[in-house]
Amino acid sequence: MQIGILTSGGDAPGMNGAIRSVVRGGLARGHTVIGVRQGYEGLLAGDAVELSLADVDGISRYGGTVLGSARSLRYPTEEGQQLAVQRVKELGLDGLVVVGGNGSLTGAHVLAKRSACQVVGLPASIDNDVGHSRLAIGVDTAVNTIVDACDRISDTARAHRRAFIVEVMGRDCGYLAMRAGIAADADAILYGERGDSEDTVVERLGQLLRDSFTDERGKKRVLIVKAEGMSVPTAQLVDRLQGVLERDVPGVGIRATILGHLVRGGSPSALDRLIAQRLALAAVMALEQGATDVMMAWEPRDAGEATVDPSVRRVALSEVLDETRRMLAGTSATMQGRLALLAEAEGIIAL
Ligand code: F6P
Repeated sequence: MQIGILTSGGDAPGMNGAIRSVVRGGLARGHTVIGVRQGYEGLLAGDAVELSLADVDGISRYGGTVLGSARSLRYPTEEGQQLAVQRVKELGLDGLVVVGGNGSLTGAHVLAKRSACQVVGLPASIDNDVGHSRLAIGVDTAVNTIVDACDRISDTARAHRRAFIVEVMGRDCGYLAMRAGIAADADAILYGERGDSEDTVVERLGQLLRDSFTDERGKKRVLIVKAEGMSVPTAQLVDRLQGVLERDVPGVGIRATILGHLVRGGSPSALDRLIAQRLALAAVMALEQGATDVMMAWEPRDAGEATVDPSVRRVALSEVLDETRRMLAGTSATMQGRLALLAEAEGIIAL
């Protein structure tokens, strides 16, 4: 087979491991592998190159993606999709592996429907907002990066007896804040899924600050991890809480750090490399078996078909996209499980 691979949307640590495994696995099994540069934008431009073992040697340790990525505005249009179908034909692709998050997998579903080329998706998004994948490629590294940043911030917070709000990525999904907040011993975790009003949040955090910095309690730092998708702007929250502190706990200050894109970079964790490599090999095998319009999922709950890898299952992309919508609407069992776990996390104010 002639197998293409592209990485698309926000990059995620581990994408390179997926590229390497498609190339190594593909070549070892007698296929040719074509790397498409800059995601769907590169596909539309026909920007592709045959990949050799030397091209991917040792790349799993690097963050980002050696193929480049893009958020294509042209591909979702009718004209863009027609051109993509034509390019896939011109490149002679029998199969295409699309590595990316929700938007990229939606694009993969469309291409699978419209083209004769078999299309298999791999979930990669630090936000962990892809349905039916317990962990998407990149999530583990991002959580570790946030925990490391929170530990460093806690050092300086403790030295000055301060509160800190650490804002982390996660446009529509608070997973990173939830997981990293627990691991970093946060005192509060703020995420958009609850939809609390600004006044409620300020009131509860104000109470937390008052309780924490009493002489009896003697806390030296308060760490609040906030998801990007929580609607109150971080600077506004700091201003209002600063007012509370000045009034009720004089001498204690509050600062904010927005981690932003720092969370998306860095050398992938061993777990992210393993997940990426195993999903990618399973994708090559799925293509050989004639599969299309599917995603290889990491440890999904009760979904899809088994593969030779006990942690990997093959799930229809339409089902993945439906479950993603349910997750983002807060109605899926997975999302409810995450929120329930957080509610049980003793001692953490989860707002
Ligand atoms: O990839 C997901 C994500 O990291 C979100 O958490 C974030 O809101 C967004 O991408 C940022 O995208 P961009 O790099 O295009 O600004």
